[in-house]
Amino acid sequence: MYLIDAICMIQNLFPTQILNSTIAPRNHPLLKSLKSDIVKLSEIDTDGQRWSSENYLYGYTSYGSLDQLHLFSTSFQDLKKKIDKQVNVFVQQLEWNISIDDLHLSKMWVNVMPKGTIHTGHIHPLSVVSGTFYVSLPKKDVPSLKFEDPRFTQMMAVPPKKKKLQLKNVNFYNFIPKVGEVVLFESWLRHEVVQNSTNELRISVSFNYDWR
Ligand code: NI
Repeated sequence: MYLIDAICMIQNLFPTQILNSTIAPRNHPLLKSLKSDIVKLSEIDTDGQRWSSENYLYGYTSYGSLDQLHLFSTSFQDLKKKIDKQVNVFVQQLEWNISIDDLHLSKMWVNVMPKGTIHTGHIHPLSVVSGTFYVSLPKKDVPSLKFEDPRFTQMMAVPPKKKKLQLKNVNFYNFIPKVGEVVLFESWLRHEVVQNSTNELRISVSFNYDWR
C-alpha cells in the first residue's frame, strides 16, 4: 500500500510469489556430484533418450523415465533435504494452514539443454509447489525461466503497456538463474524455459511437491 498524494492510495493485491535462494554456493561438492550423476544418466537412460527425442528436441530429460531421483542417489537425497527447507519457508510466506509434513516430494527429474533446446509453456498439474535447482549454466546469455501472468486469460481489452515497466506491472517475468540456486513457485503458475542459444549446457533438476 502506498500513497499517490494526500487523498489517493494504491494497494497491490493478489501478488504471485516466487522464491529463489542459493542453497549450494559455487564450488560446493554437491554441484560436482549432481553434474556427474546427471551426465551418467543422460548416457545410460535409453528410455529417457527415446522420450526426449520425441518431447525434448536436442536435449535430455528424465521426466518420462526416471522421475524419482531423490530415491536414486545420495546426491539427489542431499539436494532434497536442502530444497525441503526452502519449501518450508515458501509455505510460511504463502500462509498455508498446513504442516510441512503434509507436503511430499513426488517427482524429481533432470534436464540437460544443449543449444537449440526449448521447453514451451506449461503448468505442473496435481502438484502444489514446483521448482528447479540449477547445476550448470552457460557463462552468459543464460536461458531464462519465463513466468506468465496468471490473469492473462481474463485480459480481454487491456491496452498495451510501456516498454519499461515497474516489476508489479509486468505480464511476463524472465528469471535468470544462477548455479546453486533453487527457484520455487506454485504449480499452477504457467512458465517456460526459453531456447538455449549458447554452445554450453543448461543443466537443472526439477521437482514437484504434492499435498497429501
Ligand atoms: Ni516446469
